[in-house]
Amino acid sequence: MTDQQLRDLLWDLASQQRWFPGRGGTVAGARAGEAVEVHDARLLPAVLEVAFPDGRREDYLIPLVLRDGKPPMDACDDGAVLLEALRSGAPGFEATRPIPAGLPARRFAGEQSNTTVFFSDQLLVKVFRRIEPGINVDVELHEVLAGSGVAAELYGRWRVDGTDYAVFLEALPDPTDGYVLACRHARDGADFTTHAWALGEALATVHRTLAERLPSDTTASGAVLAAGFRRRFAQVEAEVDEVATHSAAVDAVFGAIADEVVATQRIHGDCHLGQVLLTRGRWVYVDFEGEPMASLEERRAPDTPLRDLAGMLRSFGYARADGGAPASWLLACRRAFLEGYGLDPDVPNPLLTAYETDKAGYEVSYEARYRPHLMRVPLDFLSELPEGA
Ligand SMILES: Nc1ncnc2c1ncn2[C@@H]1O[C@H](COP(=O)(O)OP(=O)(O)OP(=O)(O)O)[C@@H](O)[C@H]1O
Ligand SMILES: [Mg+2]
Repeated sequence: MTDQQLRDLLWDLASQQRWFPGRGGTVAGARAGEAVEVHDARLLPAVLEVAFPDGRREDYLIPLVLRDGKPPMDACDDGAVLLEALRSGAPGFEATRPIPAGLPARRFAGEQSNTTVFFSDQLLVKVFRRIEPGINVDVELHEVLAGSGVAAELYGRWRVDGTDYAVFLEALPDPTDGYVLACRHARDGADFTTHAWALGEALATVHRTLAERLPSDTTASGAVLAAGFRRRFAQVEAEVDEVATHSAAVDAVFGAIADEVVATQRIHGDCHLGQVLLTRGRWVYVDFEGEPMASLEERRAPDTPLRDLAGMLRSFGYARADGGAPASWLLACRRAFLEGYGLDPDVPNPLLTAYETDKAGYEVSYEARYRPHLMRVPLDFLSELPEGA
């Protein structure tokens, strides 16, 4: 295959895909790593380089399966090759537990930014699409959380020249999405506090395990955090007029953390109800990639666990609004979640409030742009901040 043929092929394959945000860009290049022999096929790790009008360049992984007499295809549509590569120990593939042979492959149909292929109901491979050189945080943290019971177990990885291309994980049995379940409870006015408590407890286990196995003696200063929060909120004020009435209260929230110094550690980084699955009565956290817009370096930097708690608390607010539940439903969920985590909900936590406020501010500008009908969800939160907190 010539370089031009590879570019054209990858662009053709990618531009039909929902995960591909590169349509607004142009092809800057294409490259392929060493082909791997798997049975009667060859697996070619191919990468499309895209240049965007604002100067950004991004790399997208499109692993190809090549078979004699057949057009090349995206390996995610021929997932059996990926499983067999792991099972047979093909170069770059590393299994961390025994891999069953011959399981039927089924590509996940839901919307996602990577591509997941399930193998029967036993395991899955998540092929990363936008790749950055080095360790993938999702792989790193699943490895660290092995045996903790609050994350899916690692089955293996595909790594090329030091960069993670895919992670193989246990497929959780009978999974129910946390956001879907919470919205359903909110709609039915059903109690969600048992689940909220268990989610808090499971998140505490995530944090404790990460702190033990990836220790760091770093701290964050309240003054620095507050400065960042204020900068972000000023941006929201510039974009959305409706937040002006909350500016004084928000300012007081950020002012209240100036003297804090808090320990930081590795965290989930993108924590919300859409990142938890209920599997046979147990809550499991998924997708440890961190904040999607952040750089790899930022995602691996220690942060305060309160950021994760704030993310989950905001998510309860959205579930309540989606299901039209009363304020008491949300309040009960919040209390149960904090208690499950090991915090006393009656003790004020200015830093947690500051994280929630920062997130709500971000949500206001996001909703104003993309889902104006939901703008009142974060605005409601801001309107309940006590003036002079
Ligand atoms: N171990 C698992 N077992 C069963 N289902 C899972 C597992 N991990 C993830 N899923 C399902 O697959 C979906 C996509 O997984 P994940 O969130 O890791 O992918 P992603 O590409 O990072 O998604 P996003 O674009 O939303 O960040 C999840 O919403 C969940 O429903
Ligand atoms: Mg993700």
